[in-house]
Amino acid sequence: MNIALGVGGGIAAYKAAELARLLEERGFVVQVLMTEAAQQFVRPLTFAALTGRKVITDLFASAGGEETLSSAVEHIRVAQDNQMLIVAPATADLLARFAHGLASDFLTTLYLAFTGTVVLAPAMNTNMWRHPATQANLETLRRRGHHIVEPEEGHLACGMTGPGRLAQPERIAAIASAAAVQLRDLEGERIVVTAGPTEEPIDPVRFISNRSSGKMGYSLAQAAAARGADVVLVSGPVTLPDPYGVTVLRVRTASDMRQAVMEHLKDASIIVKAAAVADYHVANVASRKLKKTAMRLSLELDPTVDILAEVGQKKGDRLLIGFAAETENLVAEARRKMETKNCDMVVGNLVGTDGTGFEADQNEVTLVVRTGDVIKLPRATKLEVANWIFDHALKLRLALHAAQ
Ligand SMILES: Cc1cc2nc3c(=O)[nH]c(=O)nc-3n(C[C@H](O)[C@H](O)[C@H](O)COP(=O)(O)O)c2cc1C
Repeated sequence: MNIALGVGGGIAAYKAAELARLLEERGFVVQVLMTEAAQQFVRPLTFAALTGRKVITDLFASAGGEETLSSAVEHIRVAQDNQMLIVAPATADLLARFAHGLASDFLTTLYLAFTGTVVLAPAMNTNMWRHPATQANLETLRRRGHHIVEPEEGHLACGMTGPGRLAQPERIAAIASAAAVQLRDLEGERIVVTAGPTEEPIDPVRFISNRSSGKMGYSLAQAAAARGADVVLVSGPVTLPDPYGVTVLRVRTASDMRQAVMEHLKDASIIVKAAAVADYHVANVASRKLKKTAMRLSLELDPTVDILAEVGQKKGDRLLIGFAAETENLVAEARRKMETKNCDMVVGNLVGTDGTGFEADQNEVTLVVRTGDVIKLPRATKLEVANWIFDHALKLRLALHAAQ
């Protein structure tokens, strides 16, 4: 689910950075917009780094010059692309402009064009909060059905004590999650996602592994959980924190991963195999640390179990989504994998291209689907890509049911 996060020009603007992080952690795709005043308090770069997306700072930034009309009316695009608008901190000025329908900058123009859920988290000096003008504006906004996250009481930056402090980012994120309930299109699904590399030991201290960071699989788990699914994430060794609301099973080797996947296969309705599982493991793992000598050392490797193929054989009417990281012939390889492993969709990504694939925060993938479709998705953050994969998976299931 996509959220537009508007940041107003108040002292608490810095807390919106924590809110953006928490929302991303909960699987939302966050597009930050800052008012001119907000940029006096926090730099857009902070939000760009946290969300991986350019921050919108100006209504006219993309209008004119070489730009096309479609990028010039970005406020309309943002209004259409996002299902929720959160404003934190909502300044007294923003509350007034929203209440009276002014469209004098990007955020207020977006607000007027926006038809989704609106969550406003005001923060201001106690007297500004209590002022009848502010209270009347709040009343108007409440009557419009917007969620108002009441400010907390406490010591304020201006030196006063009283109501006006921005609600804790955790509370705003929780209210946003609750408001998103109606958009939980994966509710009732039980999804198993695999992520990360595996480690195949050579001796007690060394292992063979690969460059998978786990970010794509973690984004898939995060996105599915945010959309209401019951998610089990079987993760190889990675340094990522557990996604919010997901059951994480940490494993090490391909054999461990196979066991964990098979244990959860029975209950699953969708299986997404995003892990980069080792193809080989060391045949004779040394029980003690191998000593360095001047001699050449050879390792004997045996093939590991093919988890994707085994799930493909046992999947029944479950939806199976595989991944193919290739350096060439992407579509042909993805199609071959779909056929030989009995997948319903294979997500192909070219590794070795700039800024995508392993370790990167962005990805550019092509979906090869059982219906014969080949869908090239634009380069986007892994969380956005994850959401698109589930959008297409749901469409595919409908198409497969219709064809039966
Ligand atoms: C240091 C400083 C702190 C401010 N803090 C707040 C605040 O917490 N809440 C508020 O409503 N306005 C606050 N203001 C006033 C707003 O910045 C001002 O009304 C501005 O026009 C708001 O613009 P915006 O609503 O477009 O972000 C503050 C101003 C200054 C100079």
